Amino acid sequence: MDMTPPVGPPLWILAELTYRCPLHCAFCYNPVDFARHDQEISTDDWLRVLQQGRALGAVQCGFSGGEPLLRDDLEVLVAEAHRLGYYTNLLTSGVGLTSRRADALKAAGLDHIQLSFQDSTREINDFLSHTRTFELKERVARLIKDNGWPMVMNVVIHRLNIDHIDRIIEMAADLGAEYLELANAQYYAWAQVNRAHLLPTREQVQRAEDVTNAWRQRLGDKMRVFLVVPDYYESRPKKCMNGWGNVFLTVAPDGTVLPCHTARMLPGLEFPKVGEMTLREIWFESEGFNRYRGSSWMKDPCRDCDEREKDWGGCRCQAYMLAGDPAAADPVCAKSPVHQVVEAAVAKAGSVASSEHPLVFRSADQSRRLQRMF
Ligand code: FES
Repeated sequence: MDMTPPVGPPLWILAELTYRCPLHCAFCYNPVDFARHDQEISTDDWLRVLQQGRALGAVQCGFSGGEPLLRDDLEVLVAEAHRLGYYTNLLTSGVGLTSRRADALKAAGLDHIQLSFQDSTREINDFLSHTRTFELKERVARLIKDNGWPMVMNVVIHRLNIDHIDRIIEMAADLGAEYLELANAQYYAWAQVNRAHLLPTREQVQRAEDVTNAWRQRLGDKMRVFLVVPDYYESRPKKCMNGWGNVFLTVAPDGTVLPCHTARMLPGLEFPKVGEMTLREIWFESEGFNRYRGSSWMKDPCRDCDEREKDWGGCRCQAYMLAGDPAAADPVCAKSPVHQVVEAAVAKAGSVASSEHPLVFRSADQSRRLQRMF
């Protein structure tokens, strides 16, 4: 039986303003072939996106990138989003957040900033981002506090920093963060290219959970700590994006409207650009947004699974990357016929010598090199 729920509006719009970024993170979630999508839509196009999204019913708007501060119209876009009544959120590395821009963003009505760190040590932070940015991030953290924004710190966790989790939590508490997201890398895009270096071992994940729980007890309500474990260590898949085309919509820098950051890689799907159709038409009527809604597209074992409307078959992008079929069960699921690919990656975690597979840092040159290989 088709369990397709009625389609409601998107609640959350993510405006990926640019793929340009001063950092070169080895786990960047921008598409590996970002260099081929280097066009950026204009300020007027973004203003129309914000207006159409709000008319559609969206209530939250995130501005991300790349580094969104590289767009000098960011303040204009935030002001319009605020005027329209969105709750606004800036996701930034901190590079470019001077006190002048912080004042302008405050005046524009920005509600919330999420600042990323790569680690609690300068060495690993700077190594992983391939930049010297650790002290700058500390300064930006203080600037966020001084402007009265709630401080949300985000640290992507993986094998190279997971054993520092104790010091990462301590650093976040010292900097006065209200929220700390310890988000284990999910293996897409650049993190998938570097998975052999980044996937932690099961013991490391367990230790990280123990350390985090001890800190939660100590901190009480002073700081909330979220720890997301890698889905490779789960036996059931995550409800990716809270369901395909269910609550989330992202607009890529060139105006392509997508149900998730990486959906553009899925074969046989077209995603319209803003300007070709309205956001309302794209959300409700486009083939790209409708293809994996509900359950009518499912194959075995999802089709008859009791949990199909709990996780909606997991992640379409992961199914494509690991099973070669975007309509397959997410291989993270223990019921997937190819679950062994996930088990094999887990069994190898921690054993790959860096000389075999050098770590690939995100850059336009590497993007062009990798897109020739795939
Ligand atoms: Fe694309 Fe999960 S990341 S559906």
